[in-house]
Amino acid sequence: MCKETHLDSSNQGDALPTRNVSFRFGDLFPGFEGDSRTISVPCYQDAVSMPAVARLIPKREEGYVFQEDLLEGVLDYLSAPMNDALYIFGPSGSGKTSTVHQVAALAGWPVVEMTLNGRFEMTDLTGHNTIIRGEVNFVYGPLVRALKYGYILLLNEIDLADPAELAGLNDVLEGRPLTIVQNNGEVITPHANFRMIVTANTAGSGSEESYAGTRLLNPAFLDRFRFLESSYMPQEREERLLREQYPELGAGIAGAMVRTAAEIRRSHTCQEGTTVYMTIPMTTRALLRWAHLCQDGEGSPERIRQALDSSFGFRITREERVYLHRIFEDILGNATAEEAQGRDK
Ligand SMILES: Nc1ncnc2c1ncn2[C@@H]1O[C@H](COP(=O)(O)OP(=O)(O)OP(=O)(O)O)[C@@H](O)[C@H]1O
Ligand SMILES: [Mg+2]
Repeated sequence: MCKETHLDSSNQGDALPTRNVSFRFGDLFPGFEGDSRTISVPCYQDAVSMPAVARLIPKREEGYVFQEDLLEGVLDYLSAPMNDALYIFGPSGSGKTSTVHQVAALAGWPVVEMTLNGRFEMTDLTGHNTIIRGEVNFVYGPLVRALKYGYILLLNEIDLADPAELAGLNDVLEGRPLTIVQNNGEVITPHANFRMIVTANTAGSGSEESYAGTRLLNPAFLDRFRFLESSYMPQEREERLLREQYPELGAGIAGAMVRTAAEIRRSHTCQEGTTVYMTIPMTTRALLRWAHLCQDGEGSPERIRQALDSSFGFRITREERVYLHRIFEDILGNATAEEAQGRDK
């Protein structure tokens, strides 16, 4: 049982864990049944009575389908970080951010998160002075809260930030204390549970894909990370996800939607047999949105096509959209014919 809890009321109700508890991977994570490796996670027995900390633990998403490699890499990092930070890169909507959320949700590990942009400054992470009841107080930023209290710091879209500003993270990335100059030089020593995970569409060294606003990151900065690549789920898994989250769609439609998404991705990467280049791939996020929008209405072909355009089609050119509709109708037509043949046998 965890008893004492160390609350620091001056900073947003953050709290230190009272101790860590070890869990077998197999007891916490789907797909690891029988795996005896352990992960030591912070114990916040009083989290319910500390709404501020409880709020930092992400919510579990029913029917979330983990990708094994990604899950394994994130677990390896969380359980044995060896003074590294973790860099997850891959195409948009492939599950980078949500994997971290769902692992933290199952482990009960608080996450402080920030999405970076071209105007990012280190003080966004360290904190700022503010006036509270007539007094100047320093409010910790996400980096300081994660360092001091042992949370996971999740920085999304790291490759949109100015590499010169990111160099301010180098000391922390090596496990060294952080000095906050703006708070009279306060020195923050990293808590043993502190972890830093960043996500991005590129690995920081450029990409053949066009991701507007991304930058080349400094090699010395990148050298402080271990890397994990995320990619779209294999078709059968994506179909399982769709059918678990939207059972009312029916197997035929769900299968046709997943195959359409796969075909669009193939056309985007100019794979053999594709005739039209699609400028953007259909992400898992867009696919789920498509399924969600199909729910309104009677599931008529017209409604499904409208939902396809609302979720993805209107973002591509008219020519690509014609191709998109043709692909979906061909795939759906084949699926319906196969179903009818199956019934006749
Ligand atoms: N494996 C998965 N199981 C369930 N849902 C998933 C999975 N992968 C992605 N999704 C869903 O797709 C959406 C996008 O996922 P996520 O935000 O993790 O993508 P991302 O790779 O971080 O994208 P971006 O590069 O745009 O930030 C989320 O709503 C998430 O729930
Ligand atoms: Mg993301």
